[in-house]
Amino acid sequence: MQPMNQEATIARRLTCPGRSFFLFGPRGTGKSTWLQQVLPTATRFDLLDASLYLELSRDPHRLEALSGSLPAGAWVVLDEIQKVPALLDEVHRLMESRRWRFALCGSSARKLKRGGANLLGGRALTLNLEGFTSSELAKGFDLRFSIEWGTLPFVQMDREQPAEILAAYVDTYLKEEIREEGLVRRIPPFLRFLAIAGQVNGQAVNGQNIAREAAVPRSTVDSFFAILTDTLLGHFLPAWRPGIKVRETAHPKFFWFDPGVARAATGLLRDPPDRTWLGTALETLVYHEIRVHNEVSRKLRPISYYRTPAGAEIDFIIETRKRSSAGPARLVAIEVKLAERWDRSWEKALRDLAAQGDVKVERMYGVYTGPRAYQYGDLRVLPVAEFLKALHEGAVF
Ligand SMILES: Nc1ncnc2c1ncn2[C@@H]1O[C@H](COP(=O)(O)OP(=O)(O)OP(=O)(O)O)[C@@H](O)[C@H]1O
Ligand SMILES: [Mg+2]
Repeated sequence: MQPMNQEATIARRLTCPGRSFFLFGPRGTGKSTWLQQVLPTATRFDLLDASLYLELSRDPHRLEALSGSLPAGAWVVLDEIQKVPALLDEVHRLMESRRWRFALCGSSARKLKRGGANLLGGRALTLNLEGFTSSELAKGFDLRFSIEWGTLPFVQMDREQPAEILAAYVDTYLKEEIREEGLVRRIPPFLRFLAIAGQVNGQAVNGQNIAREAAVPRSTVDSFFAILTDTLLGHFLPAWRPGIKVRETAHPKFFWFDPGVARAATGLLRDPPDRTWLGTALETLVYHEIRVHNEVSRKLRPISYYRTPAGAEIDFIIETRKRSSAGPARLVAIEVKLAERWDRSWEKALRDLAAQGDVKVERMYGVYTGPRAYQYGDLRVLPVAEFLKALHEGAVF
């Protein structure tokens, strides 16, 4: 395993837009560090600073005076903006009257929306930052370590005690959410839910079953999942529907944003992961890399999974072009396997999909943990690292 240089700062792939933006992302993914990297000379306000927080929440108009006489186009960074949602009205005003550009950083839009904040009505882009990707870690990327422990900066920069770091991470997140979401009276059910949500990572979610297992009403399960997805800790991967005529669709799959955090939520930090767990963790990691590429390239294509009528599955479908009068939908299909050897029977679902008349499969990938690349007709089989390299180079979509 390649040791990380603890002093080094890793360059992120996310680029800073030319105009105002929101930056969201789970706790500890490096948002504040990135803002410092890309806007080093910006005027900066960190609302974690208690006295600044008090001053600006009492009187949001102070923001203008505190910023001084900045020229038009100057950048102002507001970190932890969710702490004072009312500041957004002032930001809006200053964007118009002074033409300042704002970088507004927070852990999620949920807290802003709940504060009744005006999200600037489309005047600002929304960016998301997640844990490191293989391309950011470059030579420091260790597949086995990342599958087992995830790619949060805290974990990757100090590889000695990932279990302790992840336990503390989930604990901090929980305390914060429980306080901010007013969950105090529902702590035991929320904790039961979290463990179950950890176990169902990468699976099609049946809310009814989870409600039964966690002994809470179905509506509570839905609201708990909404907390996870709104705070960007989890994502629902919808089932792809080949056409509007198809009525029967599978449930969406739930994925944690990071395999290490999923493991911590499940309470499995002290147990060696089994093969099934590792297989799901690999899918979780690949999904993370696909999401980040989709985000930083600003392609923003719909991502889903596919369950064939026969019940076989394809892990990821990226719709590179919507169906239109000009032609059928275009797709990239990706099947991920934790396996040292590629088994050609895994190709069936991919080939069945490609044979369907109403879609155009542009590219098909088999991604596995073996050492060699293969070309079987129009199916490309790649070792994980090679696939991720192609992905971040824009060769996949
Ligand atoms: N690009 C990077 N290179 C090296 N270390 C990083 C990088 N980004 C973040 N870190 C480390 O990860 C930790 C968390 O980073 P940071 O505080 O920037 O995250 P954040 O997303 O702002 O977290 P929060 O949501 O809690 O505000 C810090 O210890 C930081 O030093
Ligand atoms: Mg921060």
